[in-house]
Amino acid sequence: SESNTVIGSLQFGYNTGVINAPEQKLRLFFQNVSMDRYGEPFSQGANTMVWSFAVAIFSVGGMIGSFSVGTVVNMFGRQKSMLITNILALVGGGLMGLSSLSRSYEMVIIGRFFIGVFCGLCTGLTPMYVGEISPTAVRGAFGTLHQLGVVIGILVAQIFGLEFLLGSDDLWPVLLALTILPAVLQSIMLPFCSESPRYLLIVLNKEEEARKALVRLRGCEDVDDDIQEMKEEGMKMAMEKKVTILELFRSPNYRQPIIIAIILQLSQQLSGINAVFYYSTGIFHTAGVTQPIYATIGAGVVNTVFTVVSLFLVERAGRRTLHLIGLAGMAISALIMTISLSLKTNQSLSYLAIVAVFAFVASFEMGPGPIPWFIVAELFSQGPRPAAMAVAGCSNWTANFLVGLGFPKLEELCGPYVFLIFMVLLILFFVFTYLRVPETKGRTFDDIAQGFSAKPAHSPVPDSVVISPPDNKEPTPLSPTEK
Ligand code: GLC
Repeated sequence: SESNTVIGSLQFGYNTGVINAPEQKLRLFFQNVSMDRYGEPFSQGANTMVWSFAVAIFSVGGMIGSFSVGTVVNMFGRQKSMLITNILALVGGGLMGLSSLSRSYEMVIIGRFFIGVFCGLCTGLTPMYVGEISPTAVRGAFGTLHQLGVVIGILVAQIFGLEFLLGSDDLWPVLLALTILPAVLQSIMLPFCSESPRYLLIVLNKEEEARKALVRLRGCEDVDDDIQEMKEEGMKMAMEKKVTILELFRSPNYRQPIIIAIILQLSQQLSGINAVFYYSTGIFHTAGVTQPIYATIGAGVVNTVFTVVSLFLVERAGRRTLHLIGLAGMAISALIMTISLSLKTNQSLSYLAIVAVFAFVASFEMGPGPIPWFIVAELFSQGPRPAAMAVAGCSNWTANFLVGLGFPKLEELCGPYVFLIFMVLLILFFVFTYLRVPETKGRTFDDIAQGFSAKPAHSPVPDSVVISPPDNKEPTPLSPTEK
């Protein structure tokens, strides 16, 4: 039943993808409102301004929501926070759904803002909760479930957005309001879900409740190993001061992992992935594809399939390797995309463009899609984790905002060569990952934190068993090139 927490991921995906298809309908609605109110339509410029505002304010909300995640979580706990954030989805969805009836484009904009804050919170809460309740050996696979929720959400939005489904003149408000349904569903199901045992034990110091939650989650009575591991993490934490965002950057123990976390988030967004997910229909159109909308849905399908591939590979190949493969694949695809867009002299090149976009998306989901979201929870112990999630999430949303807002302008300036910018960035991120990002597969949170510690590894904890990773290697300090 804990799997319903990824409803938050689905919501993030849905609301990312939903605004793409009904652009023309919304623009028409803005015009009609202007006619009603002022007796004349908006100028082209004013209409575009209202439109861009409605699109971009989502990411602004996302920045605020993701940044508040630490505060919210420390106040309410993981599970209750997820419950409370659903109120934002109800308000946001309600505003957008009633905007047409109320003849108010302001309600679309304000609704998108609420939805943005909601999604920002989701991108922090879900990966954190899932990371905390997962057994070490499958933490990456479980973490990838967040991204699987996101990509399915995008695909559902793309399909529902088709003109003959909900993307019509009359039904677009329903398309935007549909986000209410999963919010209600999750609010009903969440109370049956366990609170994160790690939070119960380490933050609230309630061992009995943590034990009960664990027994439920693991489906077996013997949870001593898990409790032991959490206690160790807790003891280390008791020796640390409370970690604020500022301290993340000041303390030598946290500086390295927070920089890694931020750059991994940037590698996800500045790869240009959302240039595809926000504007693919236009890109395909430019490349001479005759039915661009279906190519876009094709990208959504490839996106979903390769997230599943990554899900199965992540505990075998490891995070580092998959992230490197993904970045390299994206860089090569960006190059092929550029070639096909700049030489669009014959029809077969439009197929090359489709292949290149699909390969770009497929490579993204091998690593850069899922990994940055869940690796942040892995790189930090219980104390600094909420603050780290906030900083990483906010970096992600800021970069998302910049690409969403900047891409159309860049495309105007660079024409078919626009993806070369992303290619260069991808190469830089590849080099950084190769040099700096450690492997976290199969290692406990504590062991990973030790690897970054400025102090000598292993301050022994009284009467404790050190839990080795499943491959039976002794926990050793990290070396970035370690396999
Ligand atoms: C990741 C990104 C998101 C993007 C999606 C595409 O979740 O965070 O911005 O739209 O992947 O699948």
